[in-house]
Amino acid sequence: MEVVICRAEEEIGRLGADVVSRLVRTRPEAVLGVATGSSPRPVYAELVARVRAGELDLSGVSTFSLDEYVGLPEGHPASYRTEIRRELTDPAGIPPERVHSPQGSAGDLPAAARAYEKRIAAAGGVDVQLLGIGSDGHIAFNEPGSSLASRTRIKTLTRRTREDNARFFDGDADAVPTHCLTQGLATIMQARHVVLVATGEGKARAVAQLVEGAVSARWPGTVLQWHPHVSVLLDEAAAAGLGLAGYYREAWANKPDWQGL
Ligand code: GLP
Repeated sequence: MEVVICRAEEEIGRLGADVVSRLVRTRPEAVLGVATGSSPRPVYAELVARVRAGELDLSGVSTFSLDEYVGLPEGHPASYRTEIRRELTDPAGIPPERVHSPQGSAGDLPAAARAYEKRIAAAGGVDVQLLGIGSDGHIAFNEPGSSLASRTRIKTLTRRTREDNARFFDGDADAVPTHCLTQGLATIMQARHVVLVATGEGKARAVAQLVEGAVSARWPGTVLQWHPHVSVLLDEAAAAGLGLAGYYREAWANKPDWQGL
């Protein structure tokens, strides 16, 4: 796991976008795993800016979202499919038919979960997975207690997650759905490169656990310690709980340019 402590959000955006740009240069039909929430937005903003400047072409890529609320009608402004189209894929010129997300409005949710796993496999798996992390340590919607071997399935959201996400539902936590379809931890672990972004002091505890805590379902993101290629992009506030911050800074400062993330 490589930890990069950034001075500004622009640096996070640039580093994350560099990973995608480098991938797409060699593989224009790359498969991107995309996360919703505010954390990856600097990366999306930078990708869209590069597309608009004619420096990057994302029209050949496919995207797979991590999760979706259960029960929101198609096109609901807070649905994750709507969000990912608004924040990334529409402005980046990625055709809607190659924008995939779990079907939270399906009648048969277990079948929809199985179908989603199949679609990811049929696409050849995820090349780069962008991730955020919840304040309780969840990744995608794998809440504390999630099996480290889990696949796409229905999960019940914690009260804390619903309160954290109330800002997308006019501040009303009760309006946030109680259930979701989410990729499992084992699904996420199959991505070939994971880029996790966390910013703000509200994430400091989850980040400390993720990077330096014991691997445990209590902090689901810790499963990533078993992944061979994870890049963690942080601001100073999110890095505040790290015991080895000095080492991470030194390693990054001395990293050869050619290596990338
Ligand atoms: C949601 C999403 C996660 C996201 C997390 C953090 O619960 N399901 O994928 O990482 O929130 O969101 P934010 O980046 O807005 O803090």
